[in-house]
Amino acid sequence: MSEVHIIDHPLIQHKLTYIRDKSTGAKEFRELVEEVSTLMAYEVTRHLPLKDIEIETPVIKTDSKVIAGKKLGIVPILRAGLGMVDGILKLIPAAKVGHVGLYRDPETLEPVEYYCKMPTDIENRELIVVDPMLATGGSAEAGIQFVKDRGAKKIKFVCLIAAPEGIERIQKAHPDVDIYTASVDEKLNDHAYIVPGLGDAGDRLYGTK
Ligand code: PRP
Ligand code: URA
Repeated sequence: MSEVHIIDHPLIQHKLTYIRDKSTGAKEFRELVEEVSTLMAYEVTRHLPLKDIEIETPVIKTDSKVIAGKKLGIVPILRAGLGMVDGILKLIPAAKVGHVGLYRDPETLEPVEYYCKMPTDIENRELIVVDPMLATGGSAEAGIQFVKDRGAKKIKFVCLIAAPEGIERIQKAHPDVDIYTASVDEKLNDHAYIVPGLGDAGDRLYGTK
């Protein structure tokens, strides 16, 4: 069974409050989503293995740690996942970025695929799939399946807000994928929006409706 990591650092909780607030406009919303994504990336990369390299300080030669092992990739689920990419790239600028285009059909609530472009060496990378919202879990389940079908073996899923229903769905469909979220909210409403949530993440990021 995959693990659920709730990253409840005070800075993240503070910024998430203003992300949720409906009076926060698109510019500030985008900035806050980017900032929270950077802060979350700190925890999401905590497990990365280290190795020693020899360097010379102004005082002496010494062994010192650098990140070893697998290269990283970030895969935003379009559109709203894009809002999280730059914040994560601030901490891991060498990561490659793949894109998965999915939208949730408003009638069936099922994800519809419209785009996929991955780095060529996806099977050698640890992938961080990002989307601010994990609601029914349909989009994340499909997005993760996309990257698995293209060879990805080690995947984490990172969102800002998760509903219990979405977590359950991902844990069932992808028990090998750990979930990182800043909040587990109460429930979904009749339109499968997260309650209390933040509304429609894509619309709030890009000022559409
Ligand atoms: C939102 C969100 C997720 C999805 C979550 O995207 O960014 O991808 O809904 O819902 P689910 O867990 O029930 O699948 P949306 O379909 O609104 O598309 P957009 O990002 O293009 O606005
Ligand atoms: N997608 C969103 O953007 N928000 C929700 O609450 C649910 C799905």
